[in-house]
Formats: sequence, structure tokens, C-alpha cells
Amino acid sequence: MIYRTLFVFVAIIALAACQPQKKEINYPKTDLVAAPLIPKPVKTIATQSAFGLDAQTAIYTSTNDPAFEAVGQFLSEKIKGKTGLDLAVNNTSDATVERLIFINQSDSTDLATPESYQLYIKKDSILLNAKTAEGAFRGIQTLRQLIPEQSNDTLTDHPLWVIPSGKIMDAPKYAYRGSMLDVSRHFFSVDEVKKYIDAMAYYKMNTLHLHLSDDQGWRIEIKSWPKLTEVGGATEVGGGEGGFYTQEDYKDLVAYAAKHHITIVPEIDMPGHTNAASVSYPFLNGNGKKVEPYTGTQVGFSTFDAQKDTVYSFLDDVIGEIAAMSPGPYFHIGGDESHVTKKSDYILFIEKVEKIVQKHGKRMVGWNEIAQAKIDPSTIAQLWSNPKDAENAAANGSKIIMSPAHKAYLDMQYDSLTKFGLHWASYIPVDVGYNWDPETIVENLPKESILGIEAPLWSETISNIAELEYLAFPRLIGYAELGWSPTEHLNWEDYKERLAKQAAYLEKMNINYYPSKLIDWKKD
Ligand code: ACM
Repeated sequence: MIYRTLFVFVAIIALAACQPQKKEINYPKTDLVAAPLIPKPVKTIATQSAFGLDAQTAIYTSTNDPAFEAVGQFLSEKIKGKTGLDLAVNNTSDATVERLIFINQSDSTDLATPESYQLYIKKDSILLNAKTAEGAFRGIQTLRQLIPEQSNDTLTDHPLWVIPSGKIMDAPKYAYRGSMLDVSRHFFSVDEVKKYIDAMAYYKMNTLHLHLSDDQGWRIEIKSWPKLTEVGGATEVGGGEGGFYTQEDYKDLVAYAAKHHITIVPEIDMPGHTNAASVSYPFLNGNGKKVEPYTGTQVGFSTFDAQKDTVYSFLDDVIGEIAAMSPGPYFHIGGDESHVTKKSDYILFIEKVEKIVQKHGKRMVGWNEIAQAKIDPSTIAQLWSNPKDAENAAANGSKIIMSPAHKAYLDMQYDSLTKFGLHWASYIPVDVGYNWDPETIVENLPKESILGIEAPLWSETISNIAELEYLAFPRLIGYAELGWSPTEHLNWEDYKERLAKQAAYLEKMNINYYPSKLIDWKKD
């Protein structure tokens, strides 16, 4: 099959080369190594020539896997959005084709991970090799970033976008590169989350964690327990109207994320952070007080009753319904800040809920506190506060997601003048958010235990997409690089030059980024 597609590739190049009207283009000297790619690829070799993207360019893909064709279509849509060019995908009867982009499924052993890719850019062809459609999708993000904002209209009689030639060999450092949106404290719509996914995908992130429940709001429809959204979905911080995703909305988000090769990790936070659930169904409450809707920002006052069988029957339904709509491998159970749950109850609860998550075919993820329980080695701990928990979980065989609040929390203010956000963990200017190493931040954590990194965005202080984006951008872009690029490529001075050149993309996407003075923003 591979040989067949390669044969098609060679035949198309030969065909293109025979076009009588084809004129040599005198490309200017280019330097692929100097391209402002984020994340910085593992290996880049420049060959100083160029590929001219124009109306005579066509996209071909391996056709044995429909997911490769979908990647080709995605690239064509994005090229159209950026340049206006409408490039055909897998149309072998077009005789006007002069140059081609071939997205090839390859079994090369050099492609060591499912997300690895190789990009060969020559004068008449771009060849992208990947083992999986996921790898091909990461590779086309590199290609998108290499297309200049402006066409060159002097090299030939029509507009041409000059892409520097050379070779890129690339693969991610971590398998998990994510961000979290807290849609509970304030609700964000399906379209707003999709806009966030678009930007995550452009920077090769692969996981979106949705914090779907908290004291202030329950945001996902559960058919067997309708009051969760009827009652628990109607509140948010500050007294606004809240909101929730219907199951159709959630499935739409999951499908949109999947099209961008992004996995959704659903979180139902428990046994603390559960006031909205207990307002909906008071039998769940374990703190002995009358439950009332809550729209403030304190934490640590609510808990499920860990001693009641009915609580676990409820959770079996909730986890079952969400797991059935979530094709990804993970289910996040929160587990943080359960300050009014007795420690013995907390441990009992985590161990029982882990079994329910596993029964529904998922790997449990929880905030670092879950390491106090006897968790299964397949369970993943997410470090946010206590490094000792991460060490203990890793010693037990668990993998760790790195989200240390003082380095990776997107809701921490940039400085004391930032209008939104908090600073209980730290102020995090753009350079501080970039300048840390997930491998050394916890003293005794073997690097093999690190699954990856995630930048969470809590929403106590933000109530619309512009505020959300102001905190997330540009820091999210740095976390994308920390998760992907080899440690030896991580260099603030080099990064800030490449970051400066993201302004054109951010502005075109209408993303409201914080214009940090540390960066000399380049807008075209
Ligand atoms: C957390 O910030 N409570 C995980």
C-alpha cells in the first residue's frame, strides 16, 4: 500500500515536471532554520531554496486511511483561510498542477511516536511523512506556520507564497500536552471552546481538560439525573445565569476536538467542590449543613457523603454517561481541596470512585491529593500544589501531569496591574511561565514518570472569551513549546523572537492576547 502511494507520488511529480508551460522560478534565498516555528522542531536543516505555494499547487494524501484524507482537507481549508487559494485534495485528473503537497502514511522506523513526522520541502514538492493521521496533523501545523502572511507577487505572473525549503524531523517530548478550561465558575459556550481548540491545535497541543462541575455550577447534562443541570447549571460566580452543555453539545465538542487530534478529558470534581451537585440532589451532601446555591469564590466547604451507597450509585450513572460520550482514555475525578471530608472518608471515596471509573473503561486522573489514597498504578496524578504527593504517586507507579500552580496556572496574573486573575500562587509574567523545566521542578521525580504538562485556566475572575484569552495568550503558546520541544531548544531569548512573530496569527484569529512588554511584537 505504501509503495502504491509512493508510486502515485512519483508519478504525479513526473507529470508535473512534464508540464510544457512550467517556468523555472528564481526563488530568493530562504532559511528554514530561522523560521519562527512554535514549538521549535527537534531537527531542522535548511537548503536555501523554496517551494512556491500557488493556485497550481495540489494536495494529495495516502488514501488507504480516510483520516489522512481528512488531514489533507483540513490543510486545504486552512490554506484557503490564510491565502484565499482553493487547493484540490486527491484530484488526480487536474492537468494544471505544477507543485504538490503529499501527505504520506509511512512505516519508517525513524517515526518513533504516533505524533512524529518528517517534512521534506523542495522546489516542486512538499512530502510529509507520518505513521498516523495524528502525526500528519501535527506536521501540517508546521506547514501552516511556514506559509507567510503576504504573497510574493514579483517572482511570477501570479501570487505565490514562498515557503523555505529544507527538512524537518520532529516528535514531541511528552505524550500529554494540554490545557484546562474551568467552565464551571463561569460558563463558556461551545463556540468559545472551539475557538480555544483551534489555537491549541495550531501549537500542537493534544489534550483539553474540561472542569465540568464545581460548587458554583454543574455544566454537563446527565439524562438519569436531570436536576444537575436544571438546578445546578443555573448558577455561576457573581450571580450570572450559568449554563450547561447538552449531551449533543458535548458530543459536538468531542468530535470537533477529535478533528483537531485533541482528546477531551472530562472532570467531575469530587468529593469536595460539589455544592452545585448537592443543591440539585441534597442526599449527596456530606457536610451536615443545609445546602444553598453558591456564587462566591471560597473553596473547601462542600463534600459528598462518602459513607452512603446511594452516592456511589449516583456516581456510577454520572461517570457512565460521560464516559460513554468520551472516546479518550481518561476520566478526571478532581479530588482537590476536600477540606471538610474526613481523611478516612476521603481515602475510601477515592478508592471506590477509581473502581467505578475503571468499570467504565477509563483511566482515572485526579489532582495530586489523590496520592493520599492507595491508587492503582494506572491512575494519573496531576501535580498542582504538593510535590510530595507527586513523588509518592510516581513511587507507586503512577504517571504525573505537571501543572505546578506557580508556573503553569493561566489564571495567575502577569503582574500586579493585570485586570483579571489571581496571584495566590505567584505572578507569572510571560518569561516566568516559559522558563521552567518540568523535569526538575519536583526534586525526586524520575523523568520517565512525567506524562506531560497541562496549563489550567480557572475562571473565578473571567466571564467572557476576551478575558479568558487575555490570561491564556500568549502564555499558552509557551506551555505548548515546553510540552513538545527538546530541553536543549528551550531558550527564552530565541523563543521571544519567535513569539513576537505570532502576533499576525493571534490578530487574524481575533484572539485577545496580553501584549506583554517583554516581547517586541511583529504584526506582519
Ligand atoms: C486546584 O487548583 N484546586 C486544583
